[in-house]
Amino acid sequence: MLSDDDIKAIQSVCREKRYLAGEIVISEGSVGNNFYIIIKGGVEIWKHYGTPEQDLVAAYGRGQLFGEMALIDQYPRCATVVTHKPSDLLYITRDDFNRVIKASNPISLSIMRSISDKVRESNERYIEDLKARNHLLTLTCEQLHQEVEEREKAEKALLQANAKLEQRVTARTAESVESNSRLSQEIEDRKLLQRQLLRSDRLAATGQLAAFIAHEINSPLQAITTLLSTLMSEYQTDHELLSSFEIFKGAVHNIRNTVQKLLDLNRPSQEKKQPVNINKIIEKTMSLVKSQLKNAKIKLISDLSPNLPILIASPQQLTQCLLNLINNANESICGFSDATESKRPQIQADTTGTIGQITIRTLSDHGHIIIRVADNGPGIATEAMAHLFDPFFTNKKRMGIGVGLSVSFGIIEDHHGTIKAENSPQGGAVFIIKLPVRFNDE
Ligand SMILES: Nc1ncnc2c1ncn2[C@@H]1O[C@H](COP(=O)(O)OP(=O)(O)OP(=O)(O)O)[C@@H](O)[C@H]1O
Ligand SMILES: [Mg+2]
Repeated sequence: MLSDDDIKAIQSVCREKRYLAGEIVISEGSVGNNFYIIIKGGVEIWKHYGTPEQDLVAAYGRGQLFGEMALIDQYPRCATVVTHKPSDLLYITRDDFNRVIKASNPISLSIMRSISDKVRESNERYIEDLKARNHLLTLTCEQLHQEVEEREKAEKALLQANAKLEQRVTARTAESVESNSRLSQEIEDRKLLQRQLLRSDRLAATGQLAAFIAHEINSPLQAITTLLSTLMSEYQTDHELLSSFEIFKGAVHNIRNTVQKLLDLNRPSQEKKQPVNINKIIEKTMSLVKSQLKNAKIKLISDLSPNLPILIASPQQLTQCLLNLINNANESICGFSDATESKRPQIQADTTGTIGQITIRTLSDHGHIIIRVADNGPGIATEAMAHLFDPFFTNKKRMGIGVGLSVSFGIIEDHHGTIKAENSPQGGAVFIIKLPVRFNDE
């Protein structure tokens, strides 16, 4: 407790000052000189006052002290003190205070105790405040952490969804590309089928007409042949007449051949289908044309795959088909068609004495037997390609009425197979027959 004299001594150095609301009593950073006691009103202690980071540290009211540290140190003040309402403050300057405590030990002791209480109290308040701030900071950190985690999860989900979407888009694109190509393949197949059907119809119609014409020609031809034989035996001594009859007989023979071809157009042969070895049929056909091709200086080569499956087919019909293809190849190499004649005005034998070659190949392919008849002639004219299998389509001025390929087409169709022609990149034409090994024949 202070004595009355001590209180009087303090009162003698105390001065009073009146402040309006919002007036700065101490500025942060300034060197303080005074110690204050609030008589009326109140003050707020601000850190970084007037800046965006300003922070309210404490608020003091009537009877409370501030600025006491200015009495014992001379460091810059660490906060700003502002009145928040009109206030009356008592203050003691450092010099006055020094004088008073020098004169009285109890005063200095009491002041020291008050300062130490104040320091302890403000320390505790700061610690509490720090704890509260730390807690808030931890909560904010946790919240932030959670938000980051959630954002990461959302980003991951978004990435996954994107990847899935991309996969689906890629799959859909691939699907539509595939279905597009399937569709165009289907369209191509349909077109081919349509062309084949059209060709079959035309072949059937032409075949019937041809058969009718052949029949009409055959009867008088029969009569002519009989009459010719009678005349020839009657005039066998007249050599001049006989040689004319021979020419006549040759012409009749040619007409008979043509008539036979016309008949073939309608029904190539009525032979019953049976199990056949296609290589054997090819070898037999080759033996039929061997000498003819040898005379024509054309080499006939075969490359037949062994162990081909047995085929249910008509040997006669297949032989006829092969003969037609070999004859065409022969005629093409020899330059019998207009187109080939203009391209190959002179056909010369090579060092081996041949003017060309025909190759027949067989192979098996997924339940089918493939027969390829290739020649090294001038190939098929582009404009002829679309009409090759049409009845009576021919490029040949001499010989040929354009039924060989139509008949072959009919035969292969009758075996449920396909026949197509192309030009080989090495030159020459290739005819490709594809026959199914098994089919349901009625
Ligand atoms: N190997 C080939 N090389 C080039 N063109 C060919 C070949 N085979 C056929 N051709 C062409 O196809 C046309 C039609 O052939 P197709 O066998 O139907 O009749 P053709 O041979 O003219 O007469 P036909 O066979 O009735 O005696 C031929 O005139 C020819 O222009
Ligand atoms: Mg022909």
